[in-house]
Amino acid sequence: MRIIKCKDYDDMSRKAANLLSAQVTVKSDSVLGLATGTTPIGCYQELIRRYQDGDLDFAAVKSINLDEYRGLTGDHVQSYRYFMNNQLFNHVNIDKANTFVPDGMCKDAEAECREYDQRIQELGIDMQLLGLGHNGHIGFNEPDKVFEKETHCVDLAASTIEANSRLFAEGEEVPKQAYTMGIGGIMQAKKILVLVSGEAKADILKAVCTGPITPEVPASILQLHNDVTIIADEAAASKLNL
Ligand code: F6R
Repeated sequence: MRIIKCKDYDDMSRKAANLLSAQVTVKSDSVLGLATGTTPIGCYQELIRRYQDGDLDFAAVKSINLDEYRGLTGDHVQSYRYFMNNQLFNHVNIDKANTFVPDGMCKDAEAECREYDQRIQELGIDMQLLGLGHNGHIGFNEPDKVFEKETHCVDLAASTIEANSRLFAEGEEVPKQAYTMGIGGIMQAKKILVLVSGEAKADILKAVCTGPITPEVPASILQLHNDVTIIADEAAASKLNL
């Protein structure tokens, strides 16, 4: 694991954009594995800026996202498809037909998961961007007794449903399940880039990097990947003995 310590969130975002830009510059038809959440927003803004400045071209890029809520359409403001369109895809010249997010509305969950894995296999992810959950989750792979290898549908923890409820209109049903790429899909990526920001993630980042490899801390599996770069701001890296 390569750990790059940076000053703050903006510095982390720029450094992440540097690596993603280099990836796309060297291989214009790169397949990027992408994440939602608050952590990568600054990085996406930086990528948009570079595209607008004429320094980045997404015309041949393909993307595949980590996860999506089950039961939300892509135009629901809380869906991850909506997030990606809004935070990145609508602002760069990527062909939306080349952007993949699990279909939250699919009829057959099992078939959707198998198709998603097949797509991951066929595309081959060049660089996978990850955020880190406070409990060590990556995608929606939550702490568990085993590492779940394949794309699957997860039951969201009661605390997650409760936390999400504030984002939904009154009376609207809050998703209770989500689709997520499995640990196997994530680990197949040629390169993995993990962004971590804020003091609240310092303990879990230490466990991920220096603790035992265990499904109780899903991101600890990344210790076994041979090309992982963690970009952490000072606060998040404060418990690491670098
Ligand atoms: C998002 C995802 C999640 C987040 C993680 C961190 O697609 O897969 O694993 O990366 O929950 O979220 P933030 O960045 O909001 O702290």
